[in-house]
Parts: sequence; structure tokens; C-alpha cells
Amino acid sequence: MKPARVHKSQTPEALKVELAKSLEQRYVPPKFLYASPRQSELWLELHQQCAPTAALGAPYLEAAPYLPKEIQSLVSLGCGGGEKEISILQAIDRDIEFIPTDVSEPLVKAAARAAIAGGICTGTPLVFDLAAANDAAEFLSAHARHSCLFTFFGIIPNFPPPSILPRVRSLMSKDDYLLASANLSPHGMKDILPQYDNLPTRRWLEQFLIENEITGGKLQINICGQKNLEWFQADYVFEADTTISMDKWCIEYKSGDTIQIFVSHRYTPDTAAAVFAEYGLHIEKTFLSENREEGVFMCRPQ
Ligand SMILES: C[S@@+](CC[C@H](N)C(=O)[O-])C[C@H]1O[C@@H](n2cnc3c(N)ncnc32)[C@H](O)[C@@H]1O
Repeated sequence: MKPARVHKSQTPEALKVELAKSLEQRYVPPKFLYASPRQSELWLELHQQCAPTAALGAPYLEAAPYLPKEIQSLVSLGCGGGEKEISILQAIDRDIEFIPTDVSEPLVKAAARAAIAGGICTGTPLVFDLAAANDAAEFLSAHARHSCLFTFFGIIPNFPPPSILPRVRSLMSKDDYLLASANLSPHGMKDILPQYDNLPTRRWLEQFLIENEITGGKLQINICGQKNLEWFQADYVFEADTTISMDKWCIEYKSGDTIQIFVSHRYTPDTAAAVFAEYGLHIEKTFLSENREEGVFMCRPQ
């Protein structure tokens, strides 16, 4: 396996400052939920139990034959364990190099290892923050051959679209493609709450609290909504006045204060198309799972 290349912004010191500032604003950026080896391990276990690739695979594999002939690199943005990309590349058996990228070094390495074990030609694993690295296109350019297929699976639900879609769009040249996926809610949110409010999800989210010594409250997982958007949200609610110490920071919370730990937006095919279009991405083809809870969208830059 080629050694991972880590973006210069992802130093332990910079990450500490970013986390402390976010906690002052009562918010945890998604990247801090996957950062440590134990968090990655718990997330991979949860993913395997609650969203196994075998069960969700159909729309991803259905998209595989539509991958344009000119694609030379598949750049996975926020690859996680990389299972979906590996299945796609194995299904089409073409000479495409897989470039796993993620903000989590343990996950990017796990994806590269799994791809190599699965016989996939694998480039340098890249570690960078997709939401923050202004020079991400330059960082990638030495590693990816155009045309690129960017995959962006399961990430749009965790970010407000304005903070992530312009970044994704800015990586693409006019010959590139984007294959993105989103969780959908065809029958309302209540039916799928158990996919979020369960023991493996709580253990994964609580690992963040344990590693940052955040105590004195409890984790609540709720359904939230505004206008035509709905999402699941995990909040840590303090039950007593608490001070969190982090190097030179002391962050104070009053009983009843909350920290937003995690969100997962649920779209419909129509709301997804509208959101992508707003950021210059046109959905050319949509693939849905049989239960219509997973949508995979082939997009071109407009
Ligand atoms: C829900 S998981 C999806 C993983 C994988 N694509 C899949 O579909 O199984 C979200 C992934 O996004 C990564 N991630 C979170 N914040 C990120 C950021 N700011 N930049 C890059 N990756 C990020 C996480 O480390 C994690 O691997």
C-alpha cells in the first residue's frame, strides 16, 4: 500500500483548535466522529450492522455499467471503508485507479487495504478536510488522472449543503462526473428512526464524548424538520453545569445546554435534484434501492 498523504492543515494542534472552537459554538463537525482508530472501528461495525453493502448494493451496482468510458480515476470523497466503490470497480473490471480520500487517516488506510485485497489498482490514500481545504483541487491534482469520477457516498446527509456542495463542485472539471448518494425517506421519518437510535450508533457517538472527556449529560436522538427538509439529530444535553477543559480552553455549559453531535438529513429524489442544481450539479440519472431509502445520482457539472 502506498503511504497516505496527509494535508498540511490536519495537524494535531490545528485539529485541537478547530474542535475547541466548535465546542464553544455547541457543535461537532462530522470529521471528529471518525478521527481515532477506535471511532473508525466502531463506525465500521455500525455500518456493517445497520447499512451492509450487500443490502444497499443494488443502486450502486446498477450505476456501474453507466460509468463513462473515459474515466481514468475514481476519487472517493469521504471514502469510509470504501466498500461501495470497491464493489463498483470489481463489477466493471476496467482499468480505473481508485484514490481513497477521507479526513480520517484510519479509514482511508482501511479503504486502501480493502481495495488492494480486492484486486483493485489503488493510488495514494489522501487525507484532507473536504469542507475546509481551499486548495483541495491542487492537493488532488498530483494523484488523480482526468477524467475523474468523484464518488460522494453518504456524506451529503451530514452537512448543510452550502458548506459542502460548492467544495465538491470546485474539484470538478467539465469532463468529470460525480456519483453521489443520499439516504431518502420515502415513508416518513418515524419508520427509520430505529436505524439511528440504536446501541451501535450510540456507542459510536459516545466514543467522541469519552475521548474528549465530556460528561454530565445524556445523548438524545430526535427527528427534526424545517420547511421541506427533515433530519435526524443527536444532541448531548447537559444535566448539570459543566466545564470542559481542553488544553488552554475552558468551555462552560449550563444545565440544559446542548451540543449538536450529529445530523443526518433525509432527502427525496426531488429535493436532492433541487439541492444539487443549486450548486451547479445536474443529475443525469437516478438509481433507487428497492425500498427507495437509498438514492444514487449520476451528476455532471453544469
Ligand atoms: C457516513 S460516512 C460515509 C462513508 C462512505 N462514503 C460510505 O458511503 O460508506 C461519512 C464519511 O465522511 C468522512 N468525513 C466526515 N467529514 C469529512 C470532511 N470534512 N472531509 C472529508 N471527509 C469527511 C468520514 O470520515 C466518513 O468516512
